[in-house]
Amino acid sequence: MSQRETWATRAGFILAAVGSAVGLGNIWQFPFKTSEYGGATFLVVYLIAALGIGLPAMLAEFVIGRKSNLNAISAFEKLGHGNWKWVGVLGVGTGFWILSYYSVVGGWVLRYLGGSLTGAYFADPAGYFGSISAGLDALVLHAVFIALVVAIVAGGVEEGIEKATKLMVPSIVVILGVLAVWVVTLPGAAPGYGYFLSPDLSTLSLSVSFDPLPSFSGPLTDVIPFAVSQAFFSLSLGMGAMITYASYVGEDQSLFSDSLTVVVLNSAVGVLAGLVVIPLLFVQGIEPGSGGAGALFVSLATAFGELPAGRLVGVVFFAVVLIAALSSAISLLEVVTSYVVDNYGARRPRIASALGALIFLLGIPSAIDTAWLGWFDTLAYQLLLPLSVLGVLVFTGWVYGRPAVAELLSGSSLGEGVGLTWLWLARTIVILAVLLTLWLGVQTLFVDGAIVPPI
Ligand code: PHE
Repeated sequence: MSQRETWATRAGFILAAVGSAVGLGNIWQFPFKTSEYGGATFLVVYLIAALGIGLPAMLAEFVIGRKSNLNAISAFEKLGHGNWKWVGVLGVGTGFWILSYYSVVGGWVLRYLGGSLTGAYFADPAGYFGSISAGLDALVLHAVFIALVVAIVAGGVEEGIEKATKLMVPSIVVILGVLAVWVVTLPGAAPGYGYFLSPDLSTLSLSVSFDPLPSFSGPLTDVIPFAVSQAFFSLSLGMGAMITYASYVGEDQSLFSDSLTVVVLNSAVGVLAGLVVIPLLFVQGIEPGSGGAGALFVSLATAFGELPAGRLVGVVFFAVVLIAALSSAISLLEVVTSYVVDNYGARRPRIASALGALIFLLGIPSAIDTAWLGWFDTLAYQLLLPLSVLGVLVFTGWVYGRPAVAELLSGSSLGEGVGLTWLWLARTIVILAVLLTLWLGVQTLFVDGAIVPPI
């Protein structure tokens, strides 16, 4: 096995983890899913899930990665539990699956970057989205996006990833912040804030009947699987990404404070994007839930058309979103690449290119028809992500167990009590919450028939 690289600086890891987390999941998916599934109710469940499930699950992935110093699959063998390797395989597979359509949306961002330069989308924002989001255009840009990702991953951990990430988060926060302040001044925005920020408590309910299997109903039935999986998606959990990134981390670094930083920053960016996009939808008279996957693009394109320096704002905005999307996509491809590099010693550039080609192929249906993109996305949210995170938690909590606490505490000044609390929470209530999420997701997929592909 070749000598493994490590992060060049202490901040390198945290930057890369934030770079992986902050991406289209926050800027595109979060406002879109929030407006689709209940507004403020979704926000409440999402925030609880990010802190209550996402944080402990991220710590579990960090522990597996740093202790083993290996990629997301071999890590399980190194820790002495080769028969749990399937958790890693599932994670890598989930990442592969998600990257295939993530890259299509990355292609849309590229397209909007160009469209901002020329002003192409100003005349008819909704029509523009319709014409570029599926078909040959989308396919070509999907290819360009994945090629960019391959080029960065081929360059290796330090050079490629650390550099790309440093500027992205501050720029995103600044530009979204400025846009959010501008949106406040628009007439008609007020109901948007109500919809996004003030939950109707009666919607926070879930009932269950046993027949003999549990069957759930009530407003939270749909919200929970999407909101909890949104937390996983946007924190890059259940895809081996955090395992892989943590495998390049030294024992002197506090995993706990690193993960808290990632969770807080990541949710903040999502909420900020929501503060821009959701009121904009209201301003433009787009019913919540009817914006679909185009919600972000159409609402912003319309807004940029009305701004004085609309083209410039558009270029800057989509450039920043592109960097965010790239730094996330890089982490997905890095997971699979590092597995092959560790195990077969093959050359990084060659592997990254071959994998990129496969991901391109898998993304073809999503590029040709947004109904396929929706199907890939639903399967990821309702099944793959919760199942994969469940695997990580059961492994860390019940199989690996006590050694995980020692690994978690290494490099941190926290007492053993904190570590044990984490372990017991992960073993019990967190696992139960993910089980509920999975159950509800599967109920929708199989009982409501969402599993059927849109052929
Ligand atoms: N978290 C990223 C986002 O929010 C997406 C991602 C998922 C990246 C999984 C890596 C692994 O855009």
